[in-house]
Amino acid sequence: MTEPGTPAGAVAERATAGFRGRYGAEPAGRWAAPGRANLIGEHTDYNDGFVLPFALPLRTVVAAAPQDGERWAVWSELADSPVEFGAAEADQPGGVTGWAGYVAGVVWALRAAGHRVPGGRLAIASDVPVGSGLSSSAAIEAATLAALVDLGGLDLTDDRRPRLAQRAENEYVGAPTGIMDQSAVIRCRAGHALFLDCRTESVEQIPFDLDAAGLAVLVIDSRAPHRHADGEYASRRKSCERAAELLGVTALRDVSPAELDAALDRLDDEEMRRRVRHVVTEDQRVLDTVALLRAGRIRDIGPLLTASHASMRDDFEITVPEIDTAVEAALAAGAYGARMTGGGFGGCVLALVDADAADPVAAAVTAAYAERGFPAPAHVTVLPTGGAHRLP
Ligand code: GLA
Repeated sequence: MTEPGTPAGAVAERATAGFRGRYGAEPAGRWAAPGRANLIGEHTDYNDGFVLPFALPLRTVVAAAPQDGERWAVWSELADSPVEFGAAEADQPGGVTGWAGYVAGVVWALRAAGHRVPGGRLAIASDVPVGSGLSSSAAIEAATLAALVDLGGLDLTDDRRPRLAQRAENEYVGAPTGIMDQSAVIRCRAGHALFLDCRTESVEQIPFDLDAAGLAVLVIDSRAPHRHADGEYASRRKSCERAAELLGVTALRDVSPAELDAALDRLDDEEMRRRVRHVVTEDQRVLDTVALLRAGRIRDIGPLLTASHASMRDDFEITVPEIDTAVEAALAAGAYGARMTGGGFGGCVLALVDADAADPVAAAVTAAYAERGFPAPAHVTVLPTGGAHRLP
């Protein structure tokens, strides 16, 4: 990652140049989608709960043009070789694997929903780091979706797009994720965090004007290798669903903080009790964070962020030593609050800091890493930007 978040222009130019180089023609247009950070509300989305992500100034850009027939060609600056597929591969979940599976998954989901998807040539460039928990896959899905919808003149409003992109990821690629990432990269607005009710998919744009408050969010990429992240994610999800079943509720969202102790008493398994405690308390922390932001009290959300981290570390058990070290060092260096963001087992930490403290806090984290013998982390200072859109 570079500092402070690369402008859309450079990555868009790379996508255009890639398109020209690969296809020897001009693209019909360019569509951008951001990565996301989740301010708070982790592993609550698939429990029908609440999340509060915001869009990052790191983007994926798809340059695209239609082509005749049901064929799609995809080039990416991050891949060794381009990929081509037709309707047969697109209609078979898993028919295209690897990074191009996110593109094919979107074609599949659109076709499965009855849309007439135009054939196309696509070239992808991206500043969203892959495997860092900042939703690089959702960014590819959202930018591809925006491109195909516009090129085909399809009728698909923004509020219906996240579910479709999620289906691409769940059913075509085969990752059992929730609705947060796709919602964030499509529905976020600049200067705001997106308060999403994952049960109803209703959203509210919550003012999160860090700049005006003299604040910034420092995103620290732990560079910790993802350790069994897919299997651990799926097992956390299963455990939550099993707990809901045992408690006789549709989802853990239906257990209120006031009912938590009684609910925990009804569960025998100590590990499952910890998982439930995380989800129920995390939902409440999202609501408390939203209330503080509505009141313009951005600094005061710090302790909620830090409490969320402790809950992920101790109850949901999804952090790793590099991540905990980054959080502790950021707090010791004066961050108002810090927490891991995203699915866990590596990925990024975000720290809420005074804008002029971002560098010293980042330096303190780097020093703590050196002391522990971890490879140096990367970092970037971010302000909330907007979701997927066509570039002029
Ligand atoms: C990943 C998933 C999301 C969500 C988060 C954890 O990012 O894609 O759906 O579950 O983990 O909050």
